[in-house]
Amino acid sequence: MLRHAGTAVRLADYQPTPYAIDTVELDFRLQPQTTRVTATLALTPRPGTPAGTPLTLDGDDLRLVSVRLDGTPLAAEAFEAGPDTFVLKVPPARPFRLTIETDLDPAANAALSGLYQSRGTWCTQCEAEGFRRITYFLDRPDVLAVYTTRIEAPAGAAPVLLANGNRVAAGTAADGATHFAVWHDPWPKPSYLFAMVAGDLGMVEDSFVTRTGREVTLRIYVEHGNEPRTAFAMDSLKRAMRWDEEVFGREYDLDIFMIVAVSDFNMGAMENKGLNIFNDKYVLADPDSATDQDYAGIERVIAHEYFHNWTGNRITCRDWFQLCLKEGLTVFRDQEFSSDARSRAVKRIGDVRLLRTAQFAEDSGPLAHPVRPEIYHEINNFYTATIYEKGAELIRTLKALIGEAAFAAGMDLYFARHDGEAATIEDFIACFAESAGRDLAPFLVWYRQAGTPRLTVRHSHDRAAGRLVLDIAQATPPTPGQPDKQPVPVPVRFGLVGPDGRDVVPSAISGAEVTGDVLHITAAQHRVVFEGVHEAVVPSLLRGFSAPVVLASDLGPADRLFLLAHDSDPFCRWEAAQGLALTDLVAMTQAVAAGQKPAASAGLIAALGTVAEDAALDPAFRALVLQLPGEGDIAREIGHDIDPAAIATARAALKQAIADALGERFRTLADALASNAPYVPDAAGSGRRALVNTLGDYLALLPGGPQRTLLAYRAADNMTDRLAAMTTLIAAGAPEAETALADFHDRHRADPLAIDKWLVAQATAPGGDTLEAVERLTRHPAFSFANPNRVRSLIGAFTMSNPAAFNRPDGAGYRFLADVVLDLDSRNPQLAARLASAFRTWRALESGRRALAEAQLKRIAARSPLSADVTDIVSRCLG
Ligand code: BES
Ligand code: ZN
Repeated sequence: MLRHAGTAVRLADYQPTPYAIDTVELDFRLQPQTTRVTATLALTPRPGTPAGTPLTLDGDDLRLVSVRLDGTPLAAEAFEAGPDTFVLKVPPARPFRLTIETDLDPAANAALSGLYQSRGTWCTQCEAEGFRRITYFLDRPDVLAVYTTRIEAPAGAAPVLLANGNRVAAGTAADGATHFAVWHDPWPKPSYLFAMVAGDLGMVEDSFVTRTGREVTLRIYVEHGNEPRTAFAMDSLKRAMRWDEEVFGREYDLDIFMIVAVSDFNMGAMENKGLNIFNDKYVLADPDSATDQDYAGIERVIAHEYFHNWTGNRITCRDWFQLCLKEGLTVFRDQEFSSDARSRAVKRIGDVRLLRTAQFAEDSGPLAHPVRPEIYHEINNFYTATIYEKGAELIRTLKALIGEAAFAAGMDLYFARHDGEAATIEDFIACFAESAGRDLAPFLVWYRQAGTPRLTVRHSHDRAAGRLVLDIAQATPPTPGQPDKQPVPVPVRFGLVGPDGRDVVPSAISGAEVTGDVLHITAAQHRVVFEGVHEAVVPSLLRGFSAPVVLASDLGPADRLFLLAHDSDPFCRWEAAQGLALTDLVAMTQAVAAGQKPAASAGLIAALGTVAEDAALDPAFRALVLQLPGEGDIAREIGHDIDPAAIATARAALKQAIADALGERFRTLADALASNAPYVPDAAGSGRRALVNTLGDYLALLPGGPQRTLLAYRAADNMTDRLAAMTTLIAAGAPEAETALADFHDRHRADPLAIDKWLVAQATAPGGDTLEAVERLTRHPAFSFANPNRVRSLIGAFTMSNPAAFNRPDGAGYRFLADVVLDLDSRNPQLAARLASAFRTWRALESGRRALAEAQLKRIAARSPLSADVTDIVSRCLG
């Protein structure tokens, strides 16, 4: 594993491989102890490859058994093979076939990359570089081959045998003990999309008729007994398939589409061609065990992996630097799908919230990197919020910049021009430059430059002259390795909100290009002048969050309150409330740190009361407005010398002040919203529950509140309300929380996915002794360090979502995380590295905590051996 440490991969060094692999025949013999893999690769020298150029294949932890060239065993001196590489010294200068046998031990593969076992089921995970843990290969995304896979396994242990494509043969040995299946995938693909599954699984089948009338068989495989919990996933899949036909004109291209749910999985899900493999948390749902959020997550992830069939599989990435080409674009597509399926405004606000907590945080610390990086040491560490969330935002920004029609035409051009290819970001952007007839070279700066641009806006209005002036400056703070930044093109969607809430249309605009309601900011400074504006207006800027920037405007509280009440753009209304709350919370944090009593402003509280009761507004939207910025948001706003405890105290004080002022009205409202309609996980139902439960969070802070919350807990007939009540009790620090936790555990002890929620609830509890509780829970029988979902629920939630407890002033949280990272490193380095990235905010802490965090990072770095994954994260954090 240490082989990568120190080895940098650079975009500038890209070269095609000297040989192409045209076809791959894989033969798996699965046995309990050992698995024999025979791979036959049909190779061809690429045009221009000098005769005799050595062929170097990637491996990772492989045991070679034998090699043949065109069927003849190779002499020992003709090749070199180690665990991590295979070299054929002098390959023929013509097409040839290389047959390589390797032995694997899937049961011992705790890294969950390559071929491993999850609760007895054999399964694979090959992205990004897992295929080389199965056989020696040119394991990179620009090597596209046609795969045929034969699997032979014990019929009893593995009645189900699956691989990519269509099943072309199957049979059982004479004694009935072993059987086999052969699968053929006609679509050339990179090795990271290979998949194979063998096990004893239940199956649910459905079908889908494409718009050209082809019938596609749909199958979801789960552990026996879980079949009834797949209904929502299957429905989501069919809706996603239809949506991609209707909105992007993309049809499915095989006769069968399969999803397999497994319990041990490092990620959420994987888009292997025709055989998606999922973390079971994104497949299984019923009202008693899944929340509204889980249902939305399943719908989204099913759609995401399905959408990859075109954006990722049919058109793949030339190299891993282009990862956002498939991930950013596919996230954009799944966001659009969810927006169409639910409320667009609510979805947008949720996505922006995620962008800020995850990506803005990443972008402002030592792990900041461009959406299209130019160097990496360990590719697994680049599946980040920047690649995914900012990558998706850039597509949305591009769409705002060139308009809907040019965007749609550019997508069509991309699909037509690059189908079957391994493409780059430049290839992608070129399609839009062509469809829009615009030079998009400046837009590529967004992909090369890390950091979040900051737009500073000052406005002045001469009503008599009808002239509104906006002085807009943009600057991007330095990030590691990029001290100097260039301006980027920022489409600012805008409106000038008049006294009656309607947009006032200026007679002329100068100082920046304007198309429709988009102001094109391109330089470091713009003075934008609006003429013919005689009414009092409040500028509403960055509507719909039209670009991933920080907007610092000089609007005062009165203007923000006005936008919260009147803006026609729901995002800006929500943003106005967030901005007001953030201003209060920063001031309150300073007061706490200075030993003073923090006070909230009356205007915000009154406005929250009005929004809460505004029946004309979507309940889900009202819930979002009532949810205060998180502790991480406040920390980012403060920026440096952060005291997470003071932030938590200030935030709790604001919550209490809101509850004290509005409690009675919230009670009346919550009672009026109560419903005994049966549970439906749709936008309307989940919106109503979100509002009731958000109100409940405040009500629990009032006298008698916890007792009522416990009654609500007991009365809940679905997981959403039950978990919300339990979490509310924990957040309120109420003794009733213990009763709910005990009941929840007993009720859901047999369901690991529900136990995950129980772990998260305890890991995110406020209070000084949460760390001790987390440590105790690591020894609970329901917990296991071998299962990534358990680890993320307990330890990931504690370190990432409980800043005050993780950043305990005595440094015990840091020591605990370092212990866990070091312990996990030798077994599952990807998971260990993800956990270690919780240290990424350490430099912004106040000096005492900063020193303690640094000491623990250094303790991890000093360990030898240490995986490339963790080495990369800690060295960048310290760098
Ligand atoms: N291709 C990824 C899964 C993946 C990532 C595999 C990294 C191996 C290494 C998949 O398409 C994906 O992006 N999954 C996300 C969920 C998605 C809805 C954003 C995930 O697993 O978190
Ligand atoms: Zn993806």
